[in-house]
Amino acid sequence: MLFRLENLSHQYSDGTLALDDVSLSFAAGERIALLGTNGSGKTTLLHHLNGILQPTSGKVYFEDKPLKYNSKSLLDLRKRVGFIFQDPNDQLFAPTVKQDVAFGPLNLGQPPDQVKKAVDEALTTVGMAEYAEKPPHFLSLGQKKRVALAGVLAMQPEVLIMDEPTSNLDPRATSEILHLLLRLNKESKITLLLATHDVDMVPLFANKLYILNKGKLVSEGSPAEMFSDAEMIRSVNLRAPRIAHLFEVLKKEDNLPIDKQLPLTIGDARKEILRLLSSQKTSKPEATSKRRNPAA
Ligand SMILES: Nc1ncnc2c1ncn2[C@@H]1O[C@H](COP(=O)(O)OP(=O)(O)O)[C@@H](O)[C@H]1O
Ligand SMILES: [Mg+2]
Repeated sequence: MLFRLENLSHQYSDGTLALDDVSLSFAAGERIALLGTNGSGKTTLLHHLNGILQPTSGKVYFEDKPLKYNSKSLLDLRKRVGFIFQDPNDQLFAPTVKQDVAFGPLNLGQPPDQVKKAVDEALTTVGMAEYAEKPPHFLSLGQKKRVALAGVLAMQPEVLIMDEPTSNLDPRATSEILHLLLRLNKESKITLLLATHDVDMVPLFANKLYILNKGKLVSEGSPAEMFSDAEMIRSVNLRAPRIAHLFEVLKKEDNLPIDKQLPLTIGDARKEILRLLSSQKTSKPEATSKRRNPAA
């Protein structure tokens, strides 16, 4: 396992128990979503994976070794595990985009020509090369998120952790960042762990979900498994993706013979509609042949 949390609890100094005995693990190359409503403990959990926070009790293992919290160990960890904060304003601080993205590689002591190459490549990957000389605070939120991502990619991480990667983004920026993340997972084999409460977005990228509620891990499994457990989803104040809800209504109210596994994405819905249409044709051969050849 790449990461393993063992009975992890975290209590903040004011007494809030933000994580309560959470155990989970995931392997390299996976696309994980940490799903839960606001305040369920997602950010607190993510902050344990690169040592921003330390457990009150329990342990975090990376490649089966417990995390160590001295500065050298943390630097080694953060080279491999990139973290992107929910608010890019917490991450971007240099006078220009280029300098911001260069900060990580320079900090690792890379030579200037290698840093330049890493910065150019990272900015090209996120589609922000033409903004290299701009001050980050002039950029839109979506652009800032992409620059923050470039800053992490310039370190060539193996794992990307993103806290609410699409929150407050417009539909186009959301779709761009999702496609980019999926491409990084597919082509560069980067492990993805995203925290979100966006149930419509989750089935588009995740192969596995962890559902958090009030600091506890409530359930885990594939998106199909999780969203078909209507009772559990309701109990944690989430809902199924809208497209699944539409198909549930078509099944219950309109008695359409919808598959037991409700579609979770537009792509799945399209397949299900085509399946329904073709099964209708095969179940009424006469009607079909008449329509095709009225003279027959
Ligand atoms: N620095 C902090 N001090 C005290 N309580 C905190 C702090 N940060 C978060 N919390 C509390 O911990 C719980 C989990 O918060 P958080 O991990 O931010 O959840 P999420 O990211 O799912 O919205 C919430 O009840 C929140 O109010
Ligand atoms: Mg959060």
